[in-house]
Amino acid sequence: MKILVTGGAGYIGSHTVQSLLEKGHTPVVLDNLVYGHRDFLRRLQIKDFYVGDMGDHALLRRIFSEHKFDGVMHFSAFAYVGESVTRPDLYYRNNVMATLELLDRCLESGVRSFVFSSTCATYGEAQSERIDEQHPQNPVNPYGRSKWMVEQILKDYEHAYGLNHVILRYFNASGAHPNGLIGEDHDPETHLIPLVLYAAMGKRERVQIFGTDYNTPDGTCIRDYIHVCDLADAHILGLEKSLEQNKSYIANLGNGNGYSVKEVIEVCRQVTGLPIRADEAKRRPGDPPRLVASAEKARTELGWNPQYSDLKTIIEHAYGWHRNRHG
Ligand SMILES: NC(=O)c1ccc[n+]([C@@H]2O[C@H](COP(=O)([O-])OP(=O)(O)OC[C@H]3O[C@@H](n4cnc5c(N)ncnc54)[C@H](O)[C@@H]3O)[C@@H](O)[C@H]2O)c1
Repeated sequence: MKILVTGGAGYIGSHTVQSLLEKGHTPVVLDNLVYGHRDFLRRLQIKDFYVGDMGDHALLRRIFSEHKFDGVMHFSAFAYVGESVTRPDLYYRNNVMATLELLDRCLESGVRSFVFSSTCATYGEAQSERIDEQHPQNPVNPYGRSKWMVEQILKDYEHAYGLNHVILRYFNASGAHPNGLIGEDHDPETHLIPLVLYAAMGKRERVQIFGTDYNTPDGTCIRDYIHVCDLADAHILGLEKSLEQNKSYIANLGNGNGYSVKEVIEVCRQVTGLPIRADEAKRRPGDPPRLVASAEKARTELGWNPQYSDLKTIIEHAYGWHRNRHG
């Protein structure tokens, strides 16, 4: 298959590009490099790489005239929750309006299925131990709402124009490809595992634990960490299934196991063998105590079978990558 991968120079996009290559597909990447890394694509030897903005009408027309795509995987977006609260205009413009531009080109060129990076942030506060796809969607910030809006647009486009979608709601993407060529490198970094590893490696002085009085076994927040290579595989399975069955799918992508902040720090200490200074701080507003996926639907409907559910393996891969990158 020939696939347009928007945001393919970013963290999850580049891992999906790698998986597409491993499975003999042809990825074509569009990324404006605002947060992406040119060297990731160089390492993966990607020739079809367009540096530019997804909202650039002329560029999109050119890309779609130069290639005939079997599907589109749409990763490009802004994804900083805090920034989305202070600059919602950026988020609605980049995450929603630019997506409309991309969808226009998909319709014009007869693309049959559109895979979309959605998020557990579309659910808002968890009302059950494990969140399944039927859980109410009440996003609590503009980032989550921008993703929720695109989900609604995709459902309307399916109804009106017959464009199938695969909406994948990720929980916490983590880890790195074991080949050591690509991994997580956000700037600024806000994700827990890299922040803890930076503290281990001396790139940061310490890590802060925001809230130790939650109603969880050790008082700290619990999250579901899913290996980025497993996420990547789900995109390919989803697209294949959608094209084969001429259907749309919506699925959570998570591990189904929750780990607390203190547990993550402890496993990072074991993996690195290094002391990590962790300071307790007050709760941050808007942090739900527990977000854990039920990902049964992805398993049963898409045939997804995550390979790396163990937190230790996820952290080993992440540490291998960060040592190469920053060590
Ligand atoms: N990382 C997570 O844990 C997580 C969880 C849930 C959902 N998501 C979603 O997954 C997707 C990928 O996340 P990531 O962690 O890989 O982020 P990332 O920032 O590493 O990747 C996003 C990429 O999109 C590019 N981009 C942004 N706007 C663009 C535009 N207008 N035109 C062209 N390129 C543009 C950036 O340069 C970057 O390379 C995002 O849509 C994010 O909302 C991520």
